[in-house]
Amino acid sequence: MANLTGKKILLGITGSIAAYKSAFLARLFIKAGAEVQVLMTKAGVEFISPLTLATLSKRHVYTDISSEESWNNHVELGLWADAMVIAPLTASSLARMACGISDNIITAAYLSARCPVFFAPAMDLDMWRHPATQANVQRLQDFGNHLIPVGRGELASGLVGEGRMAEPEEIVAYLQRFWDKVQSLAGKKILITAGPTYEAIDPVRFIGNRSSGKMGIALADAAARRGAQVTLVLGPSSLSPRESSVQSVPVQSAEDMLAAARNAFKDADITILAAAVADYRPRETASHKIKKTGDTLKLELVKNPDIAATLGQEKKKGQLIVGFALETENEMDNAREKLQKKNFDLIVLNSLQDKGAGFHYDTNKITILGKDNKIRNFELKPKQAVAEDILDEVEALLISDV
Ligand code: PMT
Repeated sequence: MANLTGKKILLGITGSIAAYKSAFLARLFIKAGAEVQVLMTKAGVEFISPLTLATLSKRHVYTDISSEESWNNHVELGLWADAMVIAPLTASSLARMACGISDNIITAAYLSARCPVFFAPAMDLDMWRHPATQANVQRLQDFGNHLIPVGRGELASGLVGEGRMAEPEEIVAYLQRFWDKVQSLAGKKILITAGPTYEAIDPVRFIGNRSSGKMGIALADAAARRGAQVTLVLGPSSLSPRESSVQSVPVQSAEDMLAAARNAFKDADITILAAAVADYRPRETASHKIKKTGDTLKLELVKNPDIAATLGQEKKKGQLIVGFALETENEMDNAREKLQKKNFDLIVLNSLQDKGAGFHYDTNKITILGKDNKIRNFELKPKQAVAEDILDEVEALLISDV
């Protein structure tokens, strides 16, 4: 059961069908010991009655900046709160927040808030995917606000996909984690490898793989939010970490990645190897573009260094290594073998057999195996939430090793 004793939470409810869940959310916050002040947009009021929220929160619910008899002081509200949570947040309110348009009580309080702000979007999948929405989400995160990732599932339109508001329990857990773990990895140096490697054939072509870097980047951001000093050795990826404290080291090939990783490993307390490293590279890299001549072309490949195994051999007492296993068959056996062979402390198994798991997706489904044979299975969830689960396991191991 979450403990939010004494926390003052401004809960903003905008006009989405998911607004009905906000009553449960308010109730859970209060049960966890928080004080809740509800703010609603006019559209939000269309979906759930302010009376319900006022009854649950035992406070007047504000639905406008001013009413006939009074002016509602959004500045005071913004300063009162320890956290502001906007759940559900529609595409239009999201756009207003991203542009600083303070034409309703929620966006006005948002602009005045000095506390951490959390937003849980809710919308249909095409609205969610639209570049305008994604740019607005990115903008709010760049302002330092916290995205509570959307879930997948059946949407009000009947379509199935991403865009569902996170469940009230998840939102409460997210805040709890935020307050519990703000600095839980302070003082720790973390090395993370992420993304693919590109092994050059000639100046134009390469051998690569489908890794986007999302999983490793989510880990780097999550670790940085917990106060760790993070070095992210990132193979070619169009993405980058959101947390400005993450030190990114861009690399191309497995050999580059090994050199950068070894360098950071010397001081690392924790190493997480999420990169998909090419096991082989061309023996020769042609200095000019290879011309199309015969019907076939032979490439001789040589083995790449195994970064994980190398670091596993160099591991000193007190250093902790978390590896990944990407499998398509005999998942548990293969993962166990890698855990042992590469001298990992934990291994995160993801299987391409699971829909929505592995390369490129925004989601992943993992099983974490420990050296003690402990196995933890997790549901399919956004990679940001998966990263939190992995770091929770790492922290549990740090505590048990003390
Ligand atoms: O980047 P995304 O699109 O978000 O996708 C995430 C992911 C699927 C790439 C990630 O979740 C993942 O599974 N990463 C490991 C992929 C992999 O190469 O697994 P593996 O089972 O082949 O390797 C086992 C471990 O050894 C991994 O920690 C890997 O980083 C490491 N390794 C492997 C080969 C090598 N030459 N050097 C290594 O360090």
